[in-house]
Amino acid sequence: MSQEDQSSLQSEIRGEVQRRRTFAIISHPDAGKTTLTEKLLLFSGMIRAAGMVGGRKSTKTATSDWMAIEQDRGISVTASAMQFNYKDSVVNVLDTPGHQDFCEDTYRTLTAADSVIMVLDASKGVEAQTIKLFEACRVRSIPVITFINKMDLQSKNPIDLMEEVEQVLGIKASARNWPIGYGRDFEGVFNRGTSQAHLYRRTGAGGSSIPDVEHCTIENLRDHTNLPGQDLETLEEDLMLIDEAGNPFAMEDFLAGQVTPVYFGSAMINFGLDVLFDDFVSLAPCPRSRPADTDADEITVTPDQAEFSAFIFKLQANMNPKHRDCVAFIRINSGRFEKDMVVKNSRTGKKVRLSSPHTLVAKDRNILQHAYPGDVVGITSSDFRLGDTITSKSLYNFKPLPKFQPELFSRIRAKDLGKRKSLDKGLDQLVAEGTVQLMYEDGLHDALPFIGAVGRLQFEVLQHRLLNEYGVDTEFTPLPYACSCWLKGDPATFDKPVQAMFARDLDERLMVLFTDIWSKDRCAEKNPDHELLNIH
Ligand code: G4P
Repeated sequence: MSQEDQSSLQSEIRGEVQRRRTFAIISHPDAGKTTLTEKLLLFSGMIRAAGMVGGRKSTKTATSDWMAIEQDRGISVTASAMQFNYKDSVVNVLDTPGHQDFCEDTYRTLTAADSVIMVLDASKGVEAQTIKLFEACRVRSIPVITFINKMDLQSKNPIDLMEEVEQVLGIKASARNWPIGYGRDFEGVFNRGTSQAHLYRRTGAGGSSIPDVEHCTIENLRDHTNLPGQDLETLEEDLMLIDEAGNPFAMEDFLAGQVTPVYFGSAMINFGLDVLFDDFVSLAPCPRSRPADTDADEITVTPDQAEFSAFIFKLQANMNPKHRDCVAFIRINSGRFEKDMVVKNSRTGKKVRLSSPHTLVAKDRNILQHAYPGDVVGITSSDFRLGDTITSKSLYNFKPLPKFQPELFSRIRAKDLGKRKSLDKGLDQLVAEGTVQLMYEDGLHDALPFIGAVGRLQFEVLQHRLLNEYGVDTEFTPLPYACSCWLKGDPATFDKPVQAMFARDLDERLMVLFTDIWSKDRCAEKNPDHELLNIH
């Protein structure tokens, strides 16, 4: 490539990087993640009316009905990515399975995200699953934008909600808009960035179209709303309070994951979404540099360099039962992806041709010619393992994908003892794919390993796939542990509860399995010189 071509490629990549916003939406089930995703499609012009992608319940199966089990349960088991334009930005939304039975895929998807929108239900505040997902964002310092949804229903007080975010999640909250009325009187939001009130007219059919919005200043608000005078006074007091005592918003603190901008609204009736989405594309970071290891030292891979690099954050085998294929989802970190390009797998040193790439909206595989940093591409290939780095030239490895503390444990055996070999083969492959984690009781390496997962669904997926793909019918015997951690420090001086168990993961790292969260908490207090890691 000539010098001139090289610099024109780099400026093309730089431009595309600046436009990219790759993010995930996290929430506790039912807080409104699906509704918000659908409205993002509506506001971006991808769909003409909300509801076109199907009734909500059917949407959840329709967006990823790759596996029979997903259809049976009517939920999304695997993570997919959607790409579309929002104004001048190219948005990649990474779908995170949101059911109660969420799994490691949900966590791993966050490693491919540059930012996150965290959706809270205004009547419930910060819920259990949000805490876990937020923790996974915190360890990687991912910038988080908070959307407090369902303001059209009875909700907690907005000031209390802000405090709850700060206290439960331990992050500073900075309100960027503020609700004007709530519940049945919810009329709009005050945009603190522009000092304009946005008053919306409710549309029929449950927010299927973008509502008309009227803008006015806070001084003119009285002439434009039906809010009782008392509510207007409360609004003015609240705004004064957050002006004086609220956290200021600083871009560098947001990018460092130290402050979260907070938006109020209703995804169902589309109130506050214009402010949220417009701010999101201006605040959310474009793909950033990522650290990587060579044999000799640590390097930084900048997204706008010409050399292509990416990592595999998800593997999904047999998405299409007719072809028995395996799709590796790669997140591009630098350079320009081209269909049929030949890359090197840093783990094996082998060359791989990236043929039949596709972006994914469930089964619709749009064949792709080019892609840029931040984009997610699905490649049909069996050559990859989770966490593999691929590059066009140099050999280096992006940091390995983290593992997350399993909370469910089980022994597993083939019902037909003659199928032991097939079971081992299936387990080998499915563990490499990250379906479940495999571990041994410490000091008992010859004993049968057992499996661990963060969600029950992972066990169901494992059982289903062992049967359908490897012909092994299995029996699971649950173990009496409910949480775990990796132990940092000398095990000889560790005061372990009697019922807890020492185990080793496949990388020989020491783990402790606890019967309940209280004994884990107590144990952490009793062992101040040891570190109990939930993510490794
Ligand atoms: P999830 O993906 O986070 O699990 O939540 P989802 O969007 O599916 O929303 C859960 C329920 O909450 C849905 O009701 C949805 O319509 C409702 N919802 C979402 N956002 C809002 C909002 O801003 N205001 C109100 N009032 N409701 C909201 P559902 O009865 O489970 O489904 P459907 O029958 O409405 O499709």
